[in-house]
Amino acid sequence: MTETSAWVPDGIDLERPSAARLYDYLLGGAHNFAHDRELAERFIKAQPNAREIARHNRSFLRRAVLFMIERGVRQFLDLGSGIPTVGNVHEIAQAADPTARVVYVDYEEVAYAHSTLMLASNPLATIVQADLTRPLDILDAPETRGLLDLTAPVGLLMAGVFHFVPPAKDPARIVATYRDAVPPGSHLALSQFTRDLMPAEMDRVVEVMKSSRDPMYPRTHAEITALFAGFDIEEPGVVPTALWHPDGGLDALDDLVDGDDPNRAGIYAGVGRKR
Ligand SMILES: C[S@@+](CC[C@H](N)C(=O)[O-])C[C@H]1O[C@@H](n2cnc3c(N)ncnc32)[C@H](O)[C@@H]1O
Repeated sequence: MTETSAWVPDGIDLERPSAARLYDYLLGGAHNFAHDRELAERFIKAQPNAREIARHNRSFLRRAVLFMIERGVRQFLDLGSGIPTVGNVHEIAQAADPTARVVYVDYEEVAYAHSTLMLASNPLATIVQADLTRPLDILDAPETRGLLDLTAPVGLLMAGVFHFVPPAKDPARIVATYRDAVPPGSHLALSQFTRDLMPAEMDRVVEVMKSSRDPMYPRTHAEITALFAGFDIEEPGVVPTALWHPDGGLDALDDLVDGDDPNRAGIYAGVGRKR
C-alpha cells in the first residue's frame, strides 16, 4: 500500500468537507479532497486572510510548545491536533528534548490515519481518535495512560479547536475537566476564532462552515479569557495570535512583518499556568 492510499481511510465520506482537511489545504498540505478544496475556496472568499490566519495559528502553537518546554513541561496532550503538517508538536518538543511525550487527539479520519502512519516508529508519541468534548474518553484512554504521567505537569494544547465546540456543550466545563485532571504547574495553550477583530468576515465564515462537518462558533475576548479559569494567564494575555510572543522565526511560519495589522490574525490566543 502506498502512503497516498494509506492516509485515505476506508469508508470516509468524501462529500462532506471537514475542518481538518480545510486547514490542511490552507496550510498548503495535500491531505484533502475536492469538496474540502471547494469549501476552502469559499472560506477564502469570505475571509481573504484565511491562509495567513491559519499560518499565524500554527505559528502560535509552535511558540506555545517552546514556551512550555522552557518552563519544564515535557509531556503534551494536543486536543484537536489536525492532519500532520509543518511544525508538528512532537517534532518541536522532541527536537528540544528527545524524551518529550505527546498524545494527539482528533476525531477526524484523515487526521487519525495520517498521524498513525507518521507516529508508527515513535514510541513517545501517539494519537487517540476521540471527541475532545468527552474528556474522560481521552483522559482514561490506554494510550493516554500509557504515555502521560498525569501526576507531573502536562501541556494542554487546544489550538484552533474550541471554535468547533458549540455553547451547548459547555466549553468551560470541558476545559475545566482537563484542568482538574492535571497537577499545578501544568499549562494550557488555547486559540480560537473571534468576531471581535473582523466581524463581517467572521459572519461570512460562520455561514460557509455551516455546510461542513464542523460548524463554527466564534467567541469574544471575554468568553475566551473565561476559558482559562483556574490558570494564571501569562503575559501578554489573550491577544491576536501574531502578538503572542512573536519570535520572528525564519521558518515557513514567520510572524507578521513590520507594518502588518495584527488584528488580521483573526484568532485570539493565550497561555496559562495552572495554579
Ligand atoms: C483547525 S484544526 C487545528 C489543528 C492544530 N491544533 C493547530 O492549531 O494547528 C482543528 C482540528 O480540530 C479537530 N476537531 C474539531 N472538533 C473536535 C472535537 N470535538 N474532537 C476532536 N477533534 C476535533 C478537527 O478535526 C481539526 O483537525
